[in-house]
Amino acid sequence: MSLPAPSAVAGRTALRRRFLMCRPEHFTVAYRINPWMNPEDPTDTSVALGQWQTLYDAYVGLGHDVELIDPIAGLPDMVYAANGGFTLDGVAYTARFTHPERQPEGPAYGAWFAEHGFRVHEAREVNEGEGDFLLVGDVILAGTGFRTSVESHAELAQVTGREVVTLRLVDPRFYHLDTALAVLDPTGADANIAFLPEAFDDVSRAELHRRYPDAIEVGLEDARWLGLNSISDGRNVVIASRAVGFEASLKERGYTPIGLDLAELLLGGGGVKCCTLELRGDR
Ligand code: ARG
Repeated sequence: MSLPAPSAVAGRTALRRRFLMCRPEHFTVAYRINPWMNPEDPTDTSVALGQWQTLYDAYVGLGHDVELIDPIAGLPDMVYAANGGFTLDGVAYTARFTHPERQPEGPAYGAWFAEHGFRVHEAREVNEGEGDFLLVGDVILAGTGFRTSVESHAELAQVTGREVVTLRLVDPRFYHLDTALAVLDPTGADANIAFLPEAFDDVSRAELHRRYPDAIEVGLEDARWLGLNSISDGRNVVIASRAVGFEASLKERGYTPIGLDLAELLLGGGGVKCCTLELRGDR
């Protein structure tokens, strides 16, 4: 009998999470605001709904709480709930979208937060919520370069009282931070990440190496399926099934990857994490 790998012996603890999702009832690609979107190519809403359901079911199966916001006709990107805002300690910082096509989503998500007990802080600055803001331990990593403004980083620091670290994205395919960086451990002083080094400018890449010396570095062959666009509960990591290299690295580190096929939603430039907004209530 062979002995299990040390990382598997160490084990990892899953934390129960609370998510907000939006059923892709009106999903299509009607405009192009990122390089993944080709409005001339066909999309299939029923396929999107089926794939989205596998994600929903995976979360419920893992014991997480999933809440739903009603989809709105004419807002095909509303399925990418991560962009709807950023919540922490019972406060919701609202999204202010870059592109006019998505701007009505900001107030729609804002209303949901207000109706569900969050203290809503209306953003003055342009930002796309958890697409560009990721909580790692006590620190918020914040992307900029394509969508979210640096001014919003300062505003978010003020609203949350947390340290906000600005990271500059340089590759238009990885236009949101959550397409280039995954949070592996939601809490804890030794919280870790995975990232695509070439998606960041030199200063940001150096900062990530300094803060997370044990980070998993992911290559383009996985990132091009939006493999990094994933959700971890500290043990189980829901990822794109085509990101096989990332899947292997996660296993080596003692995580349990759960691969899903969200290919239809990839046509809009989103994956697992894009479809998921974390709800963090009062401490
Ligand atoms: N079509 C959407 C956009 O370009 C996709 C958003 C993906 N969301 C994310 N959190 N990365 O805005």
